Amino acid sequence: MSIKHIITDGTASAEVYEHGATLTSWKVDGIEQIFVSEKAILDGSKAIRGGIPLVFPHFGKVETSKLPQHGFARNSKWVVIDQSKKNQIILQLLPENVPEELRSLWPNQFKLIYTVTLEGKALTTKLDVLNTENKNDGKAWEFTVLLHTYFKVPSIETTYVSGLKGLKYTEKINNILDKIEDNENIVISKEVDRVYNDIPKTITIKKEDSKSKIELNPTNTFKDVVVWNPWIEKSKGMSDFDDLEYKKMICVEIGTVSNFINLKPGENWTGSQTLTAKL
Ligand code: BG6
Repeated sequence: MSIKHIITDGTASAEVYEHGATLTSWKVDGIEQIFVSEKAILDGSKAIRGGIPLVFPHFGKVETSKLPQHGFARNSKWVVIDQSKKNQIILQLLPENVPEELRSLWPNQFKLIYTVTLEGKALTTKLDVLNTENKNDGKAWEFTVLLHTYFKVPSIETTYVSGLKGLKYTEKINNILDKIEDNENIVISKEVDRVYNDIPKTITIKKEDSKSKIELNPTNTFKDVVVWNPWIEKSKGMSDFDDLEYKKMICVEIGTVSNFINLKPGENWTGSQTLTAKL
């Protein structure tokens, strides 16, 4: 069984599982902002379907790696290293915490530190990636990374994603490269699996025809944003996702996935996103 921890700040609260360091709930004034499938497996035997799974050391499937899709961070049991503030939790992942069968597929020395902080109506999730190889004879390694956030929406039909107009993107479903987004307000009405490049400072998810919004502010260390909704057929193929749940969620995922980040021994990389609820 995986343990979950609760943090609070005023009327806001959040829940984070040790399994995958996956945040599974963020409530502002009692209203849930994060989607988790009713069929999600929460016992630590599978990545959680929903919340904010962490994608590391690579996004999707990589030809040169035998690791499963989206890497091992979301499938590992993280260790809580600081809970001294009631509005913050800090977790750590070392190679020894990664299931052996996955660790052997990516035999590099690293430390991940994940900090989740609530401040009023804002939630910040920050990931630090350190190359802990020996500085004298250790090796550099490379990774891609993603905060795979599932947002809960009242209805996908009245949900808009704005801030991406003019950006170049790849539509992964049929591998169409170099499309340009020409919508100010993107509405999802079919399966969508896109990687947008050169992300802006602010992306907004407008819900129920703009009655409420969430603003996403990534640090500039993140270069891409993935927008994903499995729609009808893909939903039917996922055992841990109800057939109709595609209507109640949208993934807007801040990351660096188009190009690998290279870290030398002793170097570190930090990326964070702040999500602000405007109710
Ligand atoms: C998204 C990918 O980030 O995650 C999609 O762009 C993928 O291609 C989706 O289908 C869910 O992945 P998984 O491994 O959790 O089923």
